[in-house]
Amino acid sequence: MKVNKIIAGLGMAMLTACSLTPSQPIDVDSALEYCDGQIKKTLNDLHSADSIDYTMMPRNIMKGETQWNLRKATKEEWTAGFWPGVLWYDYEATQNDSIRLEAEKFTESLSFLAEIPAYDHDLGFLVFCSYGNGYRLTSNPEYKRVILAVSDSLATLYRPKVGTILSWPRNVEMFGGHNTIMDNMINLEMLFWAAKNGGNKKLYDIAVSHADKTMQNQFRDDYTSYHVAVYDTLTGECINRCTHQGYADNSMWARGQAWAIYGYTVVYRETKDPKYLDFAEKVAKVYLDRLPEDYIPYWDFSAPGIPDAPRDASAACVVASALLEMSTFFTGEKSATYKDAAVRMLASLDSDKYRGGETNHSLLLHSTGHWPAGSEIDASIIYADYYYMEALLRLKKLNEGKSIY
Ligand code: GLY
Repeated sequence: MKVNKIIAGLGMAMLTACSLTPSQPIDVDSALEYCDGQIKKTLNDLHSADSIDYTMMPRNIMKGETQWNLRKATKEEWTAGFWPGVLWYDYEATQNDSIRLEAEKFTESLSFLAEIPAYDHDLGFLVFCSYGNGYRLTSNPEYKRVILAVSDSLATLYRPKVGTILSWPRNVEMFGGHNTIMDNMINLEMLFWAAKNGGNKKLYDIAVSHADKTMQNQFRDDYTSYHVAVYDTLTGECINRCTHQGYADNSMWARGQAWAIYGYTVVYRETKDPKYLDFAEKVAKVYLDRLPEDYIPYWDFSAPGIPDAPRDASAACVVASALLEMSTFFTGEKSATYKDAAVRMLASLDSDKYRGGETNHSLLLHSTGHWPAGSEIDASIIYADYYYMEALLRLKKLNEGKSIY
């Protein structure tokens, strides 16, 4: 209790005072060099087999292991776009053509997603992290075709009666209705992009409706989020709010809140409606106010065993990246405050405690995937590495006075 009070106090102090003493305790170029070194170790591992299989994507490294466990890029493997995305970010940082070649080959293993019906909402994670970054950096027209086709496919999961995308069609019976999970906020970015890059304009309306309904139904009065909202398929009414990967229905699951902070920041960028920025700030504030001293959250803010509960570095990476973008929507003290909070998160991650470094071939240790299922607890997980590199590149661009996009 005492510790929690101190922690909450630190968070409040940070929001009000940190901007007065901005910190730059991280050398971004050397952090990106470290990332490049680790990525090369993994590429070396992948090439050491007789022949490399570009459909097998790094997913996690558990305690005691040094190399990535691979998963086949299938429609069910929601993380399959992150490794291609890591490679695109490394190419962006290094301009190394051999990394670009690897990024292209892993990305193109996901092209089948443009040819099949949507399995679930994860298509944005799968395709915008891979093809999205690839198109941003190469303008390859085939990449655009895939993104537009997959965006149309994702839109087939939208249910007008409810006003949101059905996240997990396979779990309608389990949850007792149309389910929408907070993670789904991240998939909206691809719909916004498609709507303004030659795709169907209705994709914009779908994304906005999803964001509005989620705002209305999936947050508590204190702006903490529920992981899952369940809607009556016939009336569209929200009939239940619960968790799937969090500790309890009423707790703040760290990565869920991170998806919300990131998601509403993107919705503001794409709509310029100030209500989304105001909301993103509120959703960020409750997260920042409750962080432990090193700015890396426990996997759930009510996790049993705090302060010895596992952390979730992946949530910290997602939030750091989002706060850097949020900082660009303000000037003066507010902008500095959000940037400073992100820098403190990245500085913590860029330390012996969190770096994969000598321990294994990941960029980061200490993420938690699915604690209630006993899966990927205190592990290296590929999406932490993806958002870590995204945040480092954003910080580098901001420090150089460039646009983050
Ligand atoms: N999208 C699933 C997760 O955040 O674990």
